[in-house]
Amino acid sequence: MNTRTAPSLSDFTTLWRLWLTKPRQIATWAPSSAAVGAAFVDAATAAPDGLIVELGAGTGPITATLLAAGLDRNRLIAVEADHILHARLCRRFGPAGMLCLDARALAPTIARLLRRRGHEHVGAILSTLPILNFDTPDQRAVLDGCFTHAASSACFTQITYLPGSPVRRHRLERWGYSATRWRRIQRNWPPATLWQYRREP
Ligand SMILES: C[S@@+](CC[C@H](N)C(=O)[O-])C[C@H]1O[C@@H](n2cnc3c(N)ncnc32)[C@H](O)[C@@H]1O
Repeated sequence: MNTRTAPSLSDFTTLWRLWLTKPRQIATWAPSSAAVGAAFVDAATAAPDGLIVELGAGTGPITATLLAAGLDRNRLIAVEADHILHARLCRRFGPAGMLCLDARALAPTIARLLRRRGHEHVGAILSTLPILNFDTPDQRAVLDGCFTHAASSACFTQITYLPGSPVRRHRLERWGYSATRWRRIQRNWPPATLWQYRREP
């Protein structure tokens, strides 16, 4: 199992090739930096228990940083829709918890995994999905699917490279979520902002 945290040359070339063919789905030509990984570790650590759901795992830079930081493997699932990237994740980290799935239809899988792994709820959701490119109903499907089985304190941390929340704030409010601009990360290309979405009580 290879859990190095720095991306390899082949991570870059794989992502680059896929980005050329599916730019809206892949949405970046470079794996996230160590600084982005570290911020996602902070977001995961804030959840004292429960499943940590990583969305859009790609070549695995966030997954590797979470595991290197000591996250219990039994708590982690990494979701990736592209089968080439999913196969790389399985080779790199082993197949347990590496799911080749569409993040818009996760609720039944999360329910099954919670039962199987003995967790009560989802503790945190970490998303590098290009959610800005999703249709409005698909954005809602991702959020609702993850929050269906989430702790009341659970937080959905979402990366973006543009100013503003990638899910429009008025829509979040209408769907019962609040949004906070959580962190700005300059040490990434392109520089990134992390937003946090929570379910309103
Ligand atoms: C911006 S890349 C992030 C990759 C990696 N996590 C990183 O930080 O370098 C977005 C990833 O989300 C995946 N993705 C896009 N739409 C998806 C969906 N509906 N369900 C699951 N994964 C999806 C893409 O295939 C791609 O790997």
